[in-house]
Amino acid sequence: NTAESMMSEYELPVDVEWEVARAGLALGTVLGEGEFGKVVKAQCVGILKPGQSSVVAVKMLKEGHTDAEMMALVSEMEMMKMIGKHVNIINLLGCCTQDGPLYVIVEYAPNGNLREFLRNHRPGNRYESDIQSPNEKKILTQKDLVSFSYQVARGMEYLASRRCIHRDLAARNVLVSDEFVLKIADFGLAKDVQSHDYYRKRTEGRLPVRWMAPESLYHKLFTTQTDVWSFGVLLWEIMTLGGTPYPSVPGQYMYQHLSAGHRMEKPPGCSLEIYMLMRECWSFAPGDRPSFTELVEDLDKLLTVAA
Ligand code: ADE
Repeated sequence: NTAESMMSEYELPVDVEWEVARAGLALGTVLGEGEFGKVVKAQCVGILKPGQSSVVAVKMLKEGHTDAEMMALVSEMEMMKMIGKHVNIINLLGCCTQDGPLYVIVEYAPNGNLREFLRNHRPGNRYESDIQSPNEKKILTQKDLVSFSYQVARGMEYLASRRCIHRDLAARNVLVSDEFVLKIADFGLAKDVQSHDYYRKRTEGRLPVRWMAPESLYHKLFTTQTDVWSFGVLLWEIMTLGGTPYPSVPGQYMYQHLSAGHRMEKPPGCSLEIYMLMRECWSFAPGDRPSFTELVEDLDKLLTVAA
């Protein structure tokens, strides 16, 4: 037996609705990397319009992945097929499942993740785009920030309607597309895979515990209402232009901190209305938190009246 024939290869069923010709895909630079998976930028022919090439993002496994990691990527892809399309989520475009490594092709968001995007748009921050096109640097207004909040709420309302629990809603998992369109990413990840991936890839002390509801911290319970709690923390991240939540609280004390009734203060420049929404999302009792539909309605009103 040659080494090649010993290598474990997986046979995946073809789904003609989604299968894309491998030959039409030209892989480019790495956009993001986890412990076992990575996302690369690519050009793909005929995926959006016949005969036309489009920029896409391709999720794949790294060398030396396990069977469990392979299964996790397959289930993420199947989850995305079942959830369906919405403007405010990263949509599945296709896949390559035959005669080679599994490629999950998704929409490419040219402006990267929301946390970095917000930090790059802090006043006084010199950003690439000022150098390339000094007159085009967009100053983010309060209305932009409310629009960002609204769009994430819309995406989450859709995911919740499809009975999808994100479990890791945070600004780092929201991507910024053209024209300031926000798209929620990584909603198809299985929970055990996710937390496993997390504690290893997290750096700079930004543990996901800072986004977790008390019942998630205490009982490892995840529901749409725990996603609403995380959405409150994401609102806070938006209003602080990518701040780090509870910077003075060590991660292992988060539950005690919250159960003692402590909550983050109103960020400077944040309206009372938006702060009230965060505080409602941070109700200790899950049933006291608003639904994503209520959040969409409230943010829609604030967007209409905002200067
Ligand atoms: N990084 C990870 N996924 C991405 C995507 N879909 N678009 C742009 N950057 C990404």
